[in-house]
Amino acid sequence: MNVNGKHYRTIWVNETDPRVIQAIDQRFLPHKFVIEDLRTVDAVAVAIRDMHVRGAGLIGAAAGYGMYLAALYAPQDDGFDEYISIASNKLKATRPTAVNLAWAVDKQLEAMKEAETPEQKIHVAFDTANKIASSDVTSCKQIGEYGLALIEAISKQKQGKTVHILTHCNAGWLAFVDYGSATAPVYAAFEKGIDVHVWVDETRPRNQGSSLTAWELGQHKVPHTIIPDNVGGHLMQHGMVDIVIVGTDRTTYTGDVANKIGTYLKALAAFDNHIPFYVALPSSSFDWNIKDGIKEIPIEERGAEEVKYMEGLCDGEIKKILLTPAESNATNFGFDVTPARLVTGLITERGICKANKESILSLFPERKND
Ligand code: MRU
Repeated sequence: MNVNGKHYRTIWVNETDPRVIQAIDQRFLPHKFVIEDLRTVDAVAVAIRDMHVRGAGLIGAAAGYGMYLAALYAPQDDGFDEYISIASNKLKATRPTAVNLAWAVDKQLEAMKEAETPEQKIHVAFDTANKIASSDVTSCKQIGEYGLALIEAISKQKQGKTVHILTHCNAGWLAFVDYGSATAPVYAAFEKGIDVHVWVDETRPRNQGSSLTAWELGQHKVPHTIIPDNVGGHLMQHGMVDIVIVGTDRTTYTGDVANKIGTYLKALAAFDNHIPFYVALPSSSFDWNIKDGIKEIPIEERGAEEVKYMEGLCDGEIKKILLTPAESNATNFGFDVTPARLVTGLITERGICKANKESILSLFPERKND
């Protein structure tokens, strides 16, 4: 998507040196646009763990490139496989909730198994990383097309009056390689001339909504308003939200949705107010092995300092300030699980389905025997 009129993906291979992976370092947005060079698997692991890159699709793409960098610097002899196995575990250990991470690493392991020499394995890993990134782009574009139909229908029903969409966290193009999942239908509708407006949950404590979603919508001139996290219910009670669209880090084959902490409360409020609640996801975010999301999806816990301190621009510099008594405890669960019964539908690259096993498998029949 565009930044100051120039097209960017969130991660790419350096044009002149294919041993360098470049990515937008999201820690500095919206205040500074910084591109980071990633040269080793360790650098990629740090970038994922410390959220220079974040969002399920992008974490998967970064892990794909991380495996390629590992192959590039692995000993080109009998030690190759052991080095790759250590690298894959290192990447998988960076963040627990987004299933795209393990999905991408496993895809690389399978692909490299088919090649014989280390040199061939490097080629395969390079191709596979690029394929993971490109399939993310294609899927998100298709999600945009399917989701557009939902927004179009609401716009017709409202006789062209503004369609108000509420989203939580950032499931925009910054969370993927391009387009985004939850925001892809919004961009598609906006480009089609439909009058849309997005309520952007700020998404404490990391503020992915106010710092990332707001920034990317602004880059594309999509009308939006940032709201404190607790406002959504009030807006819904007063007819100010037409549809909720969020992303997901992992969705079970039964339709339970893990997404950024606070999503569950939005789903409850939407359910109570009869507002459609949709989840947009590429198939790489389905977990085909987990049945009960609440019991089985691992929920990331991050440091208390993310709750106690807030970061922002102060006199032209990015600074951290303490918000709480220094000695107070704080807890920081990164995600929660919205049970399938609260989800109106799932927008995937193959179409829209209900959040239940039967409907999901009707779109992905090849998964029936998993
Ligand atoms: O902790 P993050 O920023 O990596 O969390 C990811 C999110 O932004 C999500 O909750 C999002 O909606 C799903 S990722 C497409």
